[in-house]
Amino acid sequence: MFCFVALVFYVSAVSGYVFPDGFKFGVATSAYQIEGGWNASGKGVSIWDTFTHQNPHLIEDGSNADVACDSYHLWRNDIDLVEALGSDFYRFSISWSRILPTGLPNEVSKGGAKYYSDIIDELLRRNIQPMVTLYHYDLPQKFQDLGGWVWRLYDEEYKPTYHGRVSLANNPVWLEAGDAKYENLAELGREFGAGRYSHPIYSRTGGWPPSVEKYMAELSRRQGLLHSRLPAFTQEEIKLIRGTYDFYALNHYTSRMIRPAKPDEKPGAWIFFGSVDLNAILFTPDSWPHTAAAAVVMYPQGIRRQMAWLQQKYGNLSFLITENGCASNTKGEHDDDRIEFLDAYLKEIAKAIEEGINVEGYTAWSLMDNFEWLSGYSVSYGLYKVDFKDPQRLRTPRASAHYYADVIKSRRLDTTNINKNKYTNLTIRVTYNIFMIVVTIVSLGLSR
Ligand SMILES: *[C@@H]1O[C@H](CO)[C@@H](O)[C@H](O)[C@H]1NC(C)=O
Ligand SMILES: *[C@@H]1O[C@H](CO)[C@@H](O)[C@H](O)[C@H]1NC(C)=O
Ligand SMILES: *[C@@H]1O[C@H](CO)[C@@H](O)[C@H](O)[C@H]1NC(C)=O
Repeated sequence: MFCFVALVFYVSAVSGYVFPDGFKFGVATSAYQIEGGWNASGKGVSIWDTFTHQNPHLIEDGSNADVACDSYHLWRNDIDLVEALGSDFYRFSISWSRILPTGLPNEVSKGGAKYYSDIIDELLRRNIQPMVTLYHYDLPQKFQDLGGWVWRLYDEEYKPTYHGRVSLANNPVWLEAGDAKYENLAELGREFGAGRYSHPIYSRTGGWPPSVEKYMAELSRRQGLLHSRLPAFTQEEIKLIRGTYDFYALNHYTSRMIRPAKPDEKPGAWIFFGSVDLNAILFTPDSWPHTAAAAVVMYPQGIRRQMAWLQQKYGNLSFLITENGCASNTKGEHDDDRIEFLDAYLKEIAKAIEEGINVEGYTAWSLMDNFEWLSGYSVSYGLYKVDFKDPQRLRTPRASAHYYADVIKSRRLDTTNINKNKYTNLTIRVTYNIFMIVVTIVSLGLSR
């Protein structure tokens, strides 16, 4: 187990893994994955309601999120869970079909708006910063019918009043060269992945990464096309998009190695298996431990290497890790593999900070088990276990919840966190309150 050997080495190299003052720990969820209440208070439909209702055969267990964790009714209880962890902030998303049932501005649902307003008020009351994901995949169906949306509204209209900070959350898979001689390919792969979604916003020059633009122009020509399949940005577009960020929101789960495809090898789909355009294969060495989600293979240094790469390309960015976590091989409460995952990634973040990378916070995915998109309820990412067979959807803290609460409390990582007897004993008030773009996120006043 390569990475654990590496960890032992770092322990001696880094002193204590202490997180700096002002570093924030949080936990995340998303609306469609937890809320349920899919038609409550006149809620309109989102593209995920339509998709799961029309295509149950495409969801691993044929399920949908009509009820999910029933957080629409149990939200106050869920804030108890967040508070029990000691989280500095809570990242949740807004379901716009709940607020705008027709998908048009002619009707704002009072019940829908109140739901989020109450959550925000309750969080503030308990001194937990709300971090709002403005869009987490559940686009109102009407918006989809009209062709999607572009988001500049918050920055122009609301920021002057509420002083939130806005960014786009990218989800890059870190790429290592499969062999030293493939380093050029690996670098092109990183530009293809992280660079394509970062360069237009975070670079000084704007537009696509030059290496990707050049590669695609040549490839298109070889393919007999008159124009590149990746049209260059116009000067106007460059100006519109460049610099539209307040920090770098990073969702990071996993890494891959890259090598060229052999003559009769067919590359699989980007970004987990390969790239047809790059004629490259992505793979993971046997030494990288698997998690219960096939796509997420553990390579903790990937998160630090990814931030170092972004910092080297775009300068001294302020990073906020907006998602990191894993599906455990157990659905029970003793999720030691999740603790190993979180601990290993947090150590790399502490190490990144020591190396001069500016990381302001970390968000564990996820607060609790939820509807995991195409996997339905077949994989569980939660610090809290949710009993989906129980009409009341009972939440129970897993070992990882105790571990994370302990890290948040001590603001440091050390071997005692791995000693389960030392975990904070979470006493959860189980209050069943029966009433109760690209991903753009706003962190409401997550300022130091
Ligand atoms: C909401 O959906 C449920 C099924 O999930 C159905 O039983 C109920 O009648 C619906 N309510 C309304 C108001 O449409
Ligand atoms: C990066 O910016 C942070 C403040 O955002 C500052 O504390 C730090 O010294 C800067 N690092 C470098 C290398 O400029
Ligand atoms: C945690 O605290 C509760 C209530 O004080 C107690 O019943 C329980 O045994 C404790 N659990 C552990 C693992 O110490």
